[in-house]
Amino acid sequence: QSFFKPIHGASPPSATSRNTKISVIGVGNVGMAIAQTILTQDLADEIALVDVNADKLRGEMLDLQHAAAFLPRTTISASVDYSSTTGSDLVIVTAGARQIPGESRLNLVQRNLALFSKIIPPLSAASPETILLIVSNPVDVLTYVAWKLSGLPANRVIGSGTNLDSSRFRFLIADHLDVNAQDVQAYIMGEHGDSSVALWSSISVGGVPILSFLERQQIAYEKQTLEKIHKEVVQGAHEVIGLKGYTSWAIGYSVANLARTILRDQHKVHPVSVLAKGLYGIDGGDVFISLPTQLGRNGVLGVTNLHLSEEESQQLQKSAKTILEVQSQLGL
Ligand code: NAI
Ligand code: 2OP
Repeated sequence: QSFFKPIHGASPPSATSRNTKISVIGVGNVGMAIAQTILTQDLADEIALVDVNADKLRGEMLDLQHAAAFLPRTTISASVDYSSTTGSDLVIVTAGARQIPGESRLNLVQRNLALFSKIIPPLSAASPETILLIVSNPVDVLTYVAWKLSGLPANRVIGSGTNLDSSRFRFLIADHLDVNAQDVQAYIMGEHGDSSVALWSSISVGGVPILSFLERQQIAYEKQTLEKIHKEVVQGAHEVIGLKGYTSWAIGYSVANLARTILRDQHKVHPVSVLAKGLYGIDGGDVFISLPTQLGRNGVLGVTNLHLSEEESQQLQKSAKTILEVQSQLGL
């Protein structure tokens, strides 16, 4: 018995219509910021939440469901069982330990590696066609781990990488120049973390390349200011963690932004962590590191061929080495 009466001559619902399903693994600060941003931006028909803490999980699910009257229609489910993620279009992994104030992301690797060996195989088995988006830290190393453990092709395993750092960078440049952050094109590449690389040579504002503009106008090249901005990008997360204990809102928007590009096949370029072997002079093994990457429904569509200065190129290769060194101790 349906609440609604069919109109005369209506055909039955099409069997070919299908839902977009996103699974979010880990319902801590980060997982919930991502889930709620995805909900408000109407990016999925179905969100499946998974966590080991059954009470917190059910509490978070109910709390989101109680907002249904104010949100786009989305089915929200929650389970401690990974089979609940079956058929996901996108699986976002945020489970795991986070830094305490003063701790580096790389220091989390052993704890989160143990966790990934439990969670990644059942996730890829439940959704062999999915795109796997890793957020847990250290994100570059764990994206490599997820690629190894999942058996998925490299174009479908992506780390949220420096999409977040680049947003911090754009905010700080915009603040400095008194312009809109959305008009600032600027990338942080490399490790999502302390060895990240700021690409000064390619920053533009409203289409104007900044460094050559400053030189043409004979405005003093503010190298110190630029360096200070990059330091603030690197310190930004540490500062927030020192003040509120964790970061959540910016990563929530950053990941929802990636989810939109992927699921709506936007072909937009984002700095995200991808298999970088052989690109930009990066060699020495399989390493995931952030490069400006075109994303769409098939995951990674390609990596841009950006011109880097010699200094930027060397910094990027050094950042890749830092990650490779950590990986070499994992025994994978
Ligand atoms: P949190 O402690 O609030 O949440 C972690 C959640 O993982 C908890 O709910 C916990 O129960 C769950 N969990 C633990 N083992 C699990 C398992 N086997 N299966 C499912 N869930 C499990 O931590 P928070 O603040 O949410 O951070 C999560 C991760 O995200 C950390 O590794 C953090 O460093 C990282 N992060 C990454 C960012 C990035 O830009 N890549 C930005 C911010 C945080
Ligand atoms: C962030 O950059 C801690 O990786 C986390 O917000």
